[in-house]
Parts: sequence; C-alpha cells; structure tokens
Amino acid sequence: MSVPALRLRPAWALLKQHHRKMRRVHLRQLFAKDRDRGERFVVEDAGIYFDYSKNRINGETLQLLIQLARESGLRERIDAMFRGDKINTSEKRSVLHVALRAPRDATILHDGRNVVPEVHAVLDRMADFANRLRSGDWKGHTGRRIRNVINIGIGGSDLGPVMAYEALRHYSERSMTFRFVSNVDGTDFAEAVRDLDPGETLFIVSSKTFTTLETMTNAATARDWLLAGLEGDATAIAKHFVAVSTNAGEVAKFGIDTANMFGFWDWVGGRYSMDSAIGLSTMLAIGPDDFRAMLEGFHQMDEHFRTAPFERNLPVLMGLLSVWYNNFFGAQTVAVLPYEQYLKRFPAYLQQLTMESNGKQVTADGRAVGYDTGPIYWGEPGTNGQHSFYQLIHQGTRLIPCDFIAFARTANPLGRHQDMLLANVFAQTEALAFGKTARQVKAEGTPDWLVPHRRFEGNRPTNTILLEALTPAALGKLVALYEHSVFTQGTIWQIDSFDQWGVELGKALARRIIPELESTADPELGHDSSTNALIRRCRKLKGSG
Ligand code: F6P
Repeated sequence: MSVPALRLRPAWALLKQHHRKMRRVHLRQLFAKDRDRGERFVVEDAGIYFDYSKNRINGETLQLLIQLARESGLRERIDAMFRGDKINTSEKRSVLHVALRAPRDATILHDGRNVVPEVHAVLDRMADFANRLRSGDWKGHTGRRIRNVINIGIGGSDLGPVMAYEALRHYSERSMTFRFVSNVDGTDFAEAVRDLDPGETLFIVSSKTFTTLETMTNAATARDWLLAGLEGDATAIAKHFVAVSTNAGEVAKFGIDTANMFGFWDWVGGRYSMDSAIGLSTMLAIGPDDFRAMLEGFHQMDEHFRTAPFERNLPVLMGLLSVWYNNFFGAQTVAVLPYEQYLKRFPAYLQQLTMESNGKQVTADGRAVGYDTGPIYWGEPGTNGQHSFYQLIHQGTRLIPCDFIAFARTANPLGRHQDMLLANVFAQTEALAFGKTARQVKAEGTPDWLVPHRRFEGNRPTNTILLEALTPAALGKLVALYEHSVFTQGTIWQIDSFDQWGVELGKALARRIIPELESTADPELGHDSSTNALIRRCRKLKGSG
C-alpha cells in the first residue's frame, strides 16, 4: 500500500493544530479536570501495567496519534513483518526476529519456507550444549570442567548478551564466571582473562558476519592466549571455542569446527538477535528452561503487538507518544530509567536498538525526510540517576520525556530497600508532572529571592512501566515492548529501521588508518590536515614517528 508522505497526512496537520493548544496545558490541569485520568490512561496486558497518564495528552491527542498510525499504514506494516515480507528494503531482507520466539507449532514463512522448525532445531542444539557444559559433561582439552565463559562480540552480538546476563544474574549458575569482551582496546580482553585458567575457559565468538574487525581481532587474541596456556596444542580449539554466526565459511576459516557453530539467519538483525543463538551465553548462564521462559515472554508481547487494537497496544502507544514529543514538542531525547539494579545495562542495550534502528535521514525510498526521526535514548538505573542528572530533567530548559521502569517485587528483599526504591519511582514521576508552584514554595517561608530557584515548573512527561518481578519472561516482554515501539516509530517516519549504513564510513577509514599507525617508515598521509596531524602526533607520542 502506498501512503502519503508524513507531512501530507491529514492527521499530521491536525496534530500540529492540536499541539498549539496542548503545549499550553499543564498536567496539573489535565489531572484536575479528569479525576480518573490515572486509571483511564493505563493499559494492562501481558503482565505489564503501563501508566501513560502523566503525558501531555488528552483523549483527542490519542485519537489523532492513532489516526496518524492508521494513515501511516501501521497495521499493514505489522502484518507485512510477521508475514516475512522484505521490509528491510535497502538490504532486501525480511525482518523476522518474531520467528525466534515463536512456539514450535507455529508457521512463519520466509521465501515460502516455514522457518520455525529451523529455529527450534538450533534452540535444541543450544540446549543440549548448555546441559552438557553446565553439568560438566563437556570438558576442556585437559579434561577439566569449563568454569568460565567469555562471549566475544560487539554491538548486537554483545549488548544483548551482556544486558541479559546482568538482568538475569539472579537466575544464573553462580559456580560459573561469565564475561564479555567487545572493545578492540586490548584492555578489554586483558582484564577479562587476567585471573582465568585457559584449561577451564570457553570462548563464544559471536558475530553475525564473522568479519567484524573488533571481534575477529579479539578472537585471534583469545586463540593465542588459549594456545599459549595449553602448550600450543591446536586441537584444544575444538573444546574451548564455539561460534555463533550466519557465516559458516568464515567460521571454518577461523579454525572453529562448524559442528561447534550455532547458526542464525540474515532475517535477524544484529540488534534484534539476543534471543537467537547470539543468546548462547545467556542460555549457558540461566539454563535452557529459563531461556525458553524468556522467549515465551517475548512471544507474548509479539502476540499483543500483532493483535491488540491500537488504543490498547502497549508498543504502539509508547511509539506514538515518542513521536508526539519528538515531532511536535521538539524533544530530542528520551530517558530510560530502570529502578532495578539488574537492569543496569538496559539503557546501553536500548541505545543500539533505538538509535541504530531509527537514526535515519532518508525515507525507505531514499527521499530526505524533512522532519526529525529517532530521538537520543539514554539513561541510568534509579535511584543513582537522581543524584546526578535528574536536576536537568526537573529544572533544565529541555523537555525530556522519561520511561520509568519498576518491579513490585525484588529478588533481594533486604529490609526496607524495595519500598524505598519504589517510593522514589512514584515520587519522581509525581514531582516531574506536578512540580511545585512559586506560591507553594513561598508558603513554606522561602525568602523571595530564593523562590525562583526552588520552584518546580512540572509538566514533565513520564511513562511508568510496572511489572511484578524481573523474571526471564518479564525481560523478554520488556525487550519486545521496546523493539515494537521502535518499529512503530520507524513506520510513522517511513524509514528503514533495519539497516545501518551509517556505521560503514568510519569502519572503512579505520582500515585505511591502521597501517598508517603501524608502519615503521613515515607513511604518506592523504587525509585532511587535522587527521594527518593527529596521526603524526600519535606516532611521535608512541615513539614510532
Ligand atoms: O557496525 C554495526 C554492526 O554491524 C551492528 O549492526 C552489529 O550488531 C555489530 O556491528 C556486530 O556485527 P557482527 O555481529 O556481524 O559482528
């Protein structure tokens, strides 16, 4: 179906007009006028209580945003994704991460073939390997049990695994050590292995392409480290290296037996792959049953996204609210604030998911967009953030919509900690919405000169995402919620949320500069004057120029 350019859609013009009215309305007024607002602007489904009442919207805003979604063909596009259409147009690929968590008896077609049996065949092989490794049946080259697992990967082949490991640490096998090496900075590898015994260490080399510079460099260093520790016996590789990739040829070239390879497919984007074989480290940490529970959580959210009416569709609402602030209020960022220490890497994970997906300046058919696309996502766990950057959210000049993520129960119920944590979530969203007027500040006896400093304007929008507890299933739901919110936003903006051409130029330039830094003779430099001078200065500082 062809849809008109975003700015020509009737809902766009109506939203523009409507925004002129809404930008002057305070959340204090909206709540005063509508006593049940805090219960009406709520959706509860798939175990998520989503309170979006503290947003600068009313019923009409919602109607218009949903109209915009319809005019943008969101329904058709959701169906197209689930049907396996090649909606990643610039790479001519299907986008089927939803197949990774489909139940065994589901049918999802790719080029006319049902991919679900292949997905489950890989999951079964992963489970078999995980059981053998966790039970000690799979031994290292010297006959010792594997106690340390190091995932080597970067971007989607790292951020998902490390985030999930941290998130589900409570469920993890505590007798084993899990580490993650991503950076080409040698420090990352050196620190990861410094106290480990090669005879007890397994490396998972995770790379969709198996050509990524950082990962292949770290994998080669890992092979050297292992062989140095095991008397140079190359047959040790088979017991200490497994690969996760779509590229069997490159895996074999590296020297990993493809019998020790877990595959996935080009219809899984790197940033959408933590629930594919890229999640092998997660499965080794939490075991196959909990991994499957996580997949079930993902699937529940997929089904919700696919079937719920837009008015009650969590990812659709979240995505549309983001569009509302991004395109009408000019907000440039979204803060994601998990009040759960185990989610400490969740904002970093979301940064790739959201910004690699929606950081685009042309539409899927190559025209300049002419409006803002993906906002900057950032965040830190609460309550820590409250003591650093919240000042700017409360009293700065920028509008920063925030997602507060909270869990009623904790895995570590210590004294009053959890209630204190939750009290802070509710206090922050209340303070951000309602603020404190100059009159209230004055009434507390504050001297006139101090009043402007102590007053809170409020009217800062927030979503509160409340779940019962951070279980594997809950994590799956949460990740899928954001995945589909990104999809919703990308659909409104008519961009391809599944390519990432913007990362290529820097990669190519780095490949050219590496030999210029390494060469013993002075290289002839053909960059701009700044880059040339930096390379020369660096060579001098390290004693090679
Ligand atoms: O450079 C960006 C990127 O291609 C990401 O999209 C991807 O997640 C990451 O690099 C790692 O790629 P690979 O899994 O192929 O090593």
